[in-house]
Amino acid sequence: MSIVQFPKEMKWGVATASYQIEGAVNEGGRGLSIWDTFSKTPGKVKNGDNGDVACGSYHRYKEDVEMMDDLGVDFYRFSVAWPRIFPDGTGEVNQAGLDYYHRLVDELLEKGIQPMCTLYHWDLPQALQDQGGWGNRQTIDAFVNYANTMFEAFEGKIKHWITFNEPWCASFLSNYMGVHAPGNQDLQLAVDVAHHMNVAHGKAVSDFRKLGIEGQIGYAPNVEWNEPYSNRQEDIDACKRANAFHLDWFFDPVFKGEYPKFLVDLFEKNGAQLHVEPGDMEIISQPIDFLGINYYSGSVARYKENEGLFEHERIDTGFQKTDIGWNIYPEGFYNVLTHIHKTYGDVPIYITENGSCYNEEPENGRVRDSKRIDYLQQHLIALDRAMKSGVNIKGYLTWSLMDNFEWAEGYTMRFGIVHVNYRTLERTKKDSFYWYKQMISNGFFER
Ligand code: NOJ
Repeated sequence: MSIVQFPKEMKWGVATASYQIEGAVNEGGRGLSIWDTFSKTPGKVKNGDNGDVACGSYHRYKEDVEMMDDLGVDFYRFSVAWPRIFPDGTGEVNQAGLDYYHRLVDELLEKGIQPMCTLYHWDLPQALQDQGGWGNRQTIDAFVNYANTMFEAFEGKIKHWITFNEPWCASFLSNYMGVHAPGNQDLQLAVDVAHHMNVAHGKAVSDFRKLGIEGQIGYAPNVEWNEPYSNRQEDIDACKRANAFHLDWFFDPVFKGEYPKFLVDLFEKNGAQLHVEPGDMEIISQPIDFLGINYYSGSVARYKENEGLFEHERIDTGFQKTDIGWNIYPEGFYNVLTHIHKTYGDVPIYITENGSCYNEEPENGRVRDSKRIDYLQQHLIALDRAMKSGVNIKGYLTWSLMDNFEWAEGYTMRFGIVHVNYRTLERTKKDSFYWYKQMISNGFFER
């Protein structure tokens, strides 16, 4: 048995996102988002599920904040539904939308919980998609206008802002692989979308500074970690390409002011050009206050001729898996954090998401999710090691406060430390909730 002890200053939290929990899609003047459209397109989401009701948090936010108060967290990371603030993406601000987030934030502050607000967690207003969405450069201005509206409306209340959540998913997974909304399969479009999101991120950071908003602003790009299958050069190179697609493509522009040349070439070989306008790279590489890291899984990559864009395949070397089929790979968490520290410097980091999918149901009012506790422990051990290796970790937020709409998987995959009955919307705290509560109050755990 050993003790894993975290510093006193370490912050703890939980995370969610608007479309995944709020429901009430037709209330408070909310406009449509691309996820309303996508989830109602037959065949896109498992069981034809959608976010119409989700966890009903739009109405039950007080109960949710109550649970967080019981849990004892420092931070609640949530996202704002852009179409609640601007139903058509631009134009008149919808006061009822702002009012909802004021009610939520006031409730949090009253309980001493700091709000951490993500501006873009994938629910683009459909009206903007109708004009080309993120493939259209004008969406950058619409985003910056929305971001500024939020900064000004919540100045003094929200002190931690995140521009984009997982832009890799919102660009490549959504516009090249077609798995997420809007469901396109077009590499050129995905490369444009990724770049426009990066520029939008930079412009929002720049305006945040110009407006002199009190607080911190960061970015939460995707992270996963692959190890090469062997030390053959072809495997090392294939693995490097796989990691760079998620990591370097989004980190290099922000931290180094350039895109990785070998990926630009690779995209070009596949018919997609990178369209950078003068000034873009300076805007993108504005210094940020913190980096948000979402880590779940990783794999082993091996060279395979003509396999996809990156000529690699994933090899299963006997990983245990969560119920969604993702490898449990805490070593990858340590590796990626130390890699980021080495490559991009001493940037303060919040783990903005880490968690696991296990689908246990309540039995006599109790959810025995010991596998989730084990997952959390293994990843917190890796995090502790990374901190001891010098990685500048400020806080850890688990995904998720509660089970919710898991995008293309609908309601079939549960990531919460609180169980949600999707029929009655009843919440049941799982064993992992009580374990996390104890860990937060102690600042350590034994294993
Ligand atoms: C990352 C995403 O940000 C979140 O929305 C999603 O539910 C989790 N991963 C789990 O897949």
